[in-house]
Amino acid sequence: MTVVLKLGGSVITEKGEPETVDDDALAAAADAVAASDDDLVVVHGGGSFGHHHAAQFGVSTTDGTHDVAGVRAIHGAMKRLNGAVVAALTDRGVPAVPVHPLSAASRDADGSLDLPTDQVRTLLAEEFVPVLHGDLVAHRGEGASVLSGDELVVALAPAVDADRVGVCSTVPGVLDDDGAVVDRIDSFGEVASVLGGSDATDVSGGMAGKIRALLALDSPASVFGPDALDGFLAGATPGTTVVGEGHE
Ligand code: IPE
Repeated sequence: MTVVLKLGGSVITEKGEPETVDDDALAAAADAVAASDDDLVVVHGGGSFGHHHAAQFGVSTTDGTHDVAGVRAIHGAMKRLNGAVVAALTDRGVPAVPVHPLSAASRDADGSLDLPTDQVRTLLAEEFVPVLHGDLVAHRGEGASVLSGDELVVALAPAVDADRVGVCSTVPGVLDDDGAVVDRIDSFGEVASVLGGSDATDVSGGMAGKIRALLALDSPASVFGPDALDGFLAGATPGTTVVGEGHE
């Protein structure tokens, strides 16, 4: 079973504190990954490493920068967080290998992403666990713009023929107006009214952007909270299941 798992930046960092890892949360997530028997591709978000710097330099997924100091600050912070994630996994015996999207991916002028994935497929086939991260990408006409972990998930899932996709966020799923978890989403219109923005600095679209992106996938995706990560990796479908149009 091939699984693409995104660990939200807010899950593994203290989102309000610049460049601060939430050590306990990262340890718990790494324990869960280490216990899995699946072929895993791990993607993590930016949390207080990426979003803080991205906001400072006014960079988002659509608005890029030509400021090389900004590029180095944002990418450098994301590499530091990636180092912490890879180290936590390595400590637990996971054969984690860092993959930095800025080194390979690019965006066209229309914003579409070109993400080479052969290296990820080959790493998986050779029984490594590739660990990618939200990053900056070269963006034609814009300089460099933010590449979110959610975009990576959407690009990677078909490339590795994922059976399942999991997005571990700080909330237990998509919540309706009464605060209850929505069980299943198969079109954006159903949930547009309850999908607000994100509560902390987020330059890549919050929950609404996440759901839009996941609806485009062939594989079913689960959006769940940190407490449900073990269950998801054990085969359960916690939180909200997002199933794109035309799929069961
Ligand atoms: C953002 O990645 C990466 C940068 C800001 C450079 P994500 O958008 O996937 O991060 P989270 O999960 O929302 O923190």
